[in-house]
Amino acid sequence: MSIVSDPTVRLRPDDDPSSPATVDSAFTIASEPSSRRLVVDAQNISLTFETADGRVEALSNVSLQIAEGEFVSFIGPSGCGKTTMLRVIADLQQPSSGTLLVNGMSAENARLARSYGYVFQAPALFPWRTIEKNLKLPLEIMGFSEADQQQRVERYLSLVNLTGFERKFPWQLSGGMQQRVSIARALSFDPAMLLMDEPFGALDEIVRDHLNEQLLQLWNSTEKTVLFVTHSIPEAVFLSTKIVVMSPRPGRIIDIIDCNFPRDRSLEIRETPEFLKIAQRVRTGLRAGHSYDE
Ligand SMILES: Nc1ncnc2c1ncn2[C@@H]1O[C@H](COP(=O)(O)OP(=O)(O)OP(=O)(O)O)[C@@H](O)[C@H]1O
Ligand SMILES: [Mg+2]
Repeated sequence: MSIVSDPTVRLRPDDDPSSPATVDSAFTIASEPSSRRLVVDAQNISLTFETADGRVEALSNVSLQIAEGEFVSFIGPSGCGKTTMLRVIADLQQPSSGTLLVNGMSAENARLARSYGYVFQAPALFPWRTIEKNLKLPLEIMGFSEADQQQRVERYLSLVNLTGFERKFPWQLSGGMQQRVSIARALSFDPAMLLMDEPFGALDEIVRDHLNEQLLQLWNSTEKTVLFVTHSIPEAVFLSTKIVVMSPRPGRIIDIIDCNFPRDRSLEIRETPEFLKIAQRVRTGLRAGHSYDE
């Protein structure tokens, strides 16, 4: 299976394979300022839901900057506001206070400019539409020509190794295959940013490992910025350039950890002391967050 074999994907201009980062430099204490353009600039974002049972404070003073080309994972306990944060960035939810720029513009304008593809926590495919028609839906809405839609369906289904499944319905595919369809759908209009909410949460570990590697290669060979929610510490450390550790509700940022492994890392790095050190720091942050609430 391959989600990276697309010959049209561009190599990053600054990717110099002759000078890979060393594993020694994998662990840095603080986020270094980046000269890259910011794709997310969130300042003091708070969000309180008004519900029939009262107010639910989902996010509290979240400030975060994400530069172009980063792979940022959000990790934190269930209900801490990870999905809410992605939804705010995607302009699917309005913050109660704070300021937010996405690609240098308001979240609404970024949404209208189709700046991102969104892979939801559940695959969210329409059961009455075939895989092909599910993939075409956003392309239809965006006004792509019929011929362009067809080409994109073929290209992106092949990218997630699902060629031949065009006429199947979602319920005829396994959970992992459905999730790959939703990844293809998010990629199909070539957005600069991918918002991925626990895309591999329901998959077995071997399939998850494989898709992690494929996603990493995709990220490494394109200029996409990825915002990725996970509950898995090893997954976060393996994939990310930056890990955002969040506290239990109301979601606050406890720690931001830089992970400077080589971009073309392999699963074997999970055995290295540097990897385990970062994993330990994430675990410590999660524990600290829990005790904060007790
Ligand atoms: N539309 C909504 N109305 C009211 N409360 C909401 C709404 N959406 C989310 N919440 C609440 O906000 C909090 C954060 O929810 P969110 O879905 O962001 O958590 P999460 O970190 O993604 O959790 P999980 O890991 O379980 O997916 C939760 O307490 C949730 O009940
Ligand atoms: Mg969630």
